[in-house]
Amino acid sequence: VSLKPYNTFGLPAVARTLVRVRSDDDVRRVVADPVLGPAAKFVLGGGSNIILTRDMPQVVLKVEVPGMAVVEERADAWIVEAGGGVGWDDLVAFTLEAGCPGLENMASIPGTVGASPVQNIGAYGIELKDRFESLDAVDLATGETRTWDAARCRFGYRDSAFKRGASFEPVDDTPPAAAPAPGSASTPPGSQVITRVRFRLPRPWQPVLGYLELQRKMLETGVTNPTPRQIHDWIVAIRRTKLPDPAAIGNAGSFFKNPVVTPEQCRDIIGRDPEIVHYPLPDGSVKLAAGWMIDVCGWKGKSVGGAGVYEKQALVLVNRGAAIGSEVMTLARAIQESVYGRFGIRLEPEPVIV
Ligand code: EPU
Repeated sequence: VSLKPYNTFGLPAVARTLVRVRSDDDVRRVVADPVLGPAAKFVLGGGSNIILTRDMPQVVLKVEVPGMAVVEERADAWIVEAGGGVGWDDLVAFTLEAGCPGLENMASIPGTVGASPVQNIGAYGIELKDRFESLDAVDLATGETRTWDAARCRFGYRDSAFKRGASFEPVDDTPPAAAPAPGSASTPPGSQVITRVRFRLPRPWQPVLGYLELQRKMLETGVTNPTPRQIHDWIVAIRRTKLPDPAAIGNAGSFFKNPVVTPEQCRDIIGRDPEIVHYPLPDGSVKLAAGWMIDVCGWKGKSVGGAGVYEKQALVLVNRGAAIGSEVMTLARAIQESVYGRFGIRLEPEPVIV
């Protein structure tokens, strides 16, 4: 099976077996199957956050669990549940139509509901973890469905327990298990298929308007009390100006995480590059804009083979047509080296490299 239509970067790779799962029972049937059960597996959502660098010997499970519903109306929140296979932006539209706002700042993010907790998606001042209630996941080792609360998911900036392969264990202070060796033959222990996610959307609704670009929209339009729909439409417009639509230009969103440094490191860099875009975080550390660093290193518009740096946002790598995974990785490494050379900062890839 060609995986090209199943990854938004449009990279060529072939999987020997692809199984579509529409329910927890579908997953359990795979786990119980004498051939598929023992085989290594890879869980695929919308394919919008993966870079495929080689063919896949694993059994690819494509999560297609449907369904969206407001399942509970509490005094202080709406609880909305969606199947892992639902498109993220379809969920955002559903919540707005149902009169349960709170996801509008995360409009237009590619990918599926089931993948959204894996990297704790976020944009314009809201992260998934700020709206998360719980999720159901089927363990690929045992076939059991368990419900995970936020503590178990160990959400971090573009990170969660699921990115590292997580077993459902008592929550304590023991560090998470080490990631499996790349290319290891079997399914990583604790691999999970996220089949449903529940969101907690606080009532009364409060707009999140801290981002400079949203402030600018308010000034431009003279609207000081925007509705959820208005914020949604602003976000869609802002994203359109700087992020490529994967349907037109293959990409996986931001290719690197924004690095977080100590105030001392930051002062050091400011000493040499006073213009550097940075944001102080509540815990005293400082987040640096990786896109800005890549931009000043001169990468915008550059290419390696079919892989390129997007002209309007240097943090986004794109497919200029017929790119292959190794070209993307060569370009990424060259960017990492040049940013390290100038700023002494190692950029970490944000998508999952397969
Ligand atoms: N900048 C440049 N040149 C560039 C790109 C950025 O100078 O080529 C500057 C911008 O002018 C701005 C700063 O860098 O002052 C930050 O840029 P931007 O606001 O576009 O956001 P970002 O930090 O690059 C992050 C997320 C995005 C998310 C936006 C908005 C990460 C890795 N990326 O990008 O998320 O949409 O903020 O909240 O945290 C994603 O994760 O895939 C993603 C797209």
